[in-house]
Amino acid sequence: MIGDPTAGLGEPALRAWWMPFTHNRHFKAHPRLITSGKGAYYTLADGHRVFDGLSGLWCCPLGHSPDRVVQAVQRQVATLDFSPSFQMGHPAAFSLAERIARFAGRPNDRVFFVNSGSEAVDTALKIAVAYHRARGESSRTRIIGRERGYHGVGMGGISVGGIVSNRKMFAPLMIPGVDHLPHTFDPAQMGYSRGQPEWGAHLADELERLVTLHDASNIAAVIVEPMQGSTGVIVPPRGYLKRLREICTRHGILLIFDEVITGFGRLGTPFAADFFDVQPDLITFAKAVNNAAVPLGGVLASESIYDAFMSGPEHLIEFFHGYTYSAHPLGVAAAHATLDELLEQRLIDRAAHLAPVLEEAIHSLRGEPLVADIRNLGLAAAVDVTPVPGKPALRAFQVFEQALSRGLLPRFTGETIALAPPFISTEDEVRNAVEILRAALRAAA
Ligand SMILES: Cc1ncc(COP(=O)(O)O)c(C=O)c1O
Repeated sequence: MIGDPTAGLGEPALRAWWMPFTHNRHFKAHPRLITSGKGAYYTLADGHRVFDGLSGLWCCPLGHSPDRVVQAVQRQVATLDFSPSFQMGHPAAFSLAERIARFAGRPNDRVFFVNSGSEAVDTALKIAVAYHRARGESSRTRIIGRERGYHGVGMGGISVGGIVSNRKMFAPLMIPGVDHLPHTFDPAQMGYSRGQPEWGAHLADELERLVTLHDASNIAAVIVEPMQGSTGVIVPPRGYLKRLREICTRHGILLIFDEVITGFGRLGTPFAADFFDVQPDLITFAKAVNNAAVPLGGVLASESIYDAFMSGPEHLIEFFHGYTYSAHPLGVAAAHATLDELLEQRLIDRAAHLAPVLEEAIHSLRGEPLVADIRNLGLAAAVDVTPVPGKPALRAFQVFEQALSRGLLPRFTGETIALAPPFISTEDEVRNAVEILRAALRAAA
């Protein structure tokens, strides 16, 4: 926004925006407004600079308004602002798809572009069900999600997701034929674990139980976040994802990794699939793909999945799905620039380098007031706090407010505070963010 967007921002304007995932009444009474961002910092309307402890919403690994991305978007809007992706195409979208497939180490994959993580998830679910049908296995329609999973807010995403508050109001609208694996978080077994917990690989065997219950011939796909981010950095037990992969393969079930948070370097590797050395059949991505400068997401699909659709007369559409803004030229331009920057500046290596710095720092909070658990993987970490009796989710908000007033913007959800700093952060900035969190915990106690 140009100029001072807060000038004259009075009650009518505050009232008009029904904000997403926000306690609107409290917010409108105590607005927290961000007016600009540069590098790893936001500037608030009151002039305070705060360290962006969650890379926006897990989506700005390069920090804010990096020159290269800004210039790429500026050039693009002046050259080709929009181009239809139905029966037409612009060259940069094809080259981006090819680049992303190579970046993922899956050069034969096809990339379907969308505009958000939620759309990526719903697209992947549709591809999975349609794939089986195209191959003559039309009874394979059931999707298996996981408790505590967050897969966005589309009807498919909330159906396979496992966060009760995102689901309970919408039960009649949810897609039928979904089941859930148990989540893998057990503080008694894995409290204060650093990186992957040793306990819990056996929980993947629950998939065998669901296969026995429903029969493989009725199951299309399993969708999981390789590392659960939004629900509080739930790290998969060692060996768990490999076991899921084996069971899916044995039964002809597609495995979908929702990499909307982990894709493009968060774990210090291009995708979490690389980190865990487990290749799924479909990968969803969004957020960091273009540093969130313009909404963009997508689905990587293996060649055999794509090929299954390529039957029938060549003049007919093979997959009746897509969005007006699929492969929007501005989003695509931002993604090319983001990939250039990630690769040339070796920023994924830098995320890998910062990961142990964050791990050391965050675990030093053990024993601080309110701390109930600490977890980390890659350049992501979470601290659980003890709830205020009878007032769920209040404590983490109190800690958040204390942190914000001290110069750190973390993320709070439920009883969890999460950190996922930009890859451009320095070691001192990462340590300093944790020190601010320490002060915030003490102040909120
Ligand atoms: C794993 C995962 N999937 C999907 C989404 C939804 O993405 P969006 O908010 O862009 O729709 C998110 C958002 O945080 C996510 O973490």
